[in-house]
Amino acid sequence: MKFFVDTADISEIRELAAAGVLDGVTTNPSLVAKTGRPIRDVIKEICQAIEGPVSAEVTATHFDGMVAEGKLLAGIAANVAVKVPSTWDGFRACRALSQLRHKVNVTLCFSANQALLAAKAGATFISPFVGRLDDLGLDGMEVIREIRKIYDNDKSFTTEILASSIRTPLHVKQAAIAGADIATVPPAILRGLARHPLTEKGLESFLADWGKTGQAIL
Ligand code: E4P
Repeated sequence: MKFFVDTADISEIRELAAAGVLDGVTTNPSLVAKTGRPIRDVIKEICQAIEGPVSAEVTATHFDGMVAEGKLLAGIAANVAVKVPSTWDGFRACRALSQLRHKVNVTLCFSANQALLAAKAGATFISPFVGRLDDLGLDGMEVIREIRKIYDNDKSFTTEILASSIRTPLHVKQAAIAGADIATVPPAILRGLARHPLTEKGLESFLADWGKTGQAIL
């Protein structure tokens, strides 16, 4: 499973890219708003920092506007993936932008049927929002399992499942087990995947014993 980071914070992105764990970046209007900077500058800078796909979301809600904004965003860099919402106009825009050979990420997906429409519209990525479904007392991961099955049943589909709205390390593990192609993860959770209390405890006792020997490897 590939890792994208879910942030528009360029310093976080640079640091994680340098660690070699990043396959791409996802942003959304809320994340770009947090930077306080113009979207074109933010997306351009991120696209220069990493080679993988960088999702940039349209804010128009009707077909024509989505396509116009999508073309503009796609023109920023070759690795931009235009994000459109899982609405009727969004699926139409997905088809139009895919036909122009732009990468498209269909976002705000909460059902397997939305994912089915996205794949038929030629989406590069489908983003089911696991955490937001869990927030409602539903099983977000079940939607990932359903989509995996549906996509595996039709070999003509090439859309990748991008598990989104990931809130915990458990979500990351479950998404990988469920067969998601990618998980987009907030920076703190991505770093948290390395942490285990037994690793920290074990390291502490190894170093205490080593200290008593007076040896140094270098
Ligand atoms: C995905 O592309 C979205 O930006 C993101 O995963 C949304 O996550 P949230 O529900 O934590 O806001």
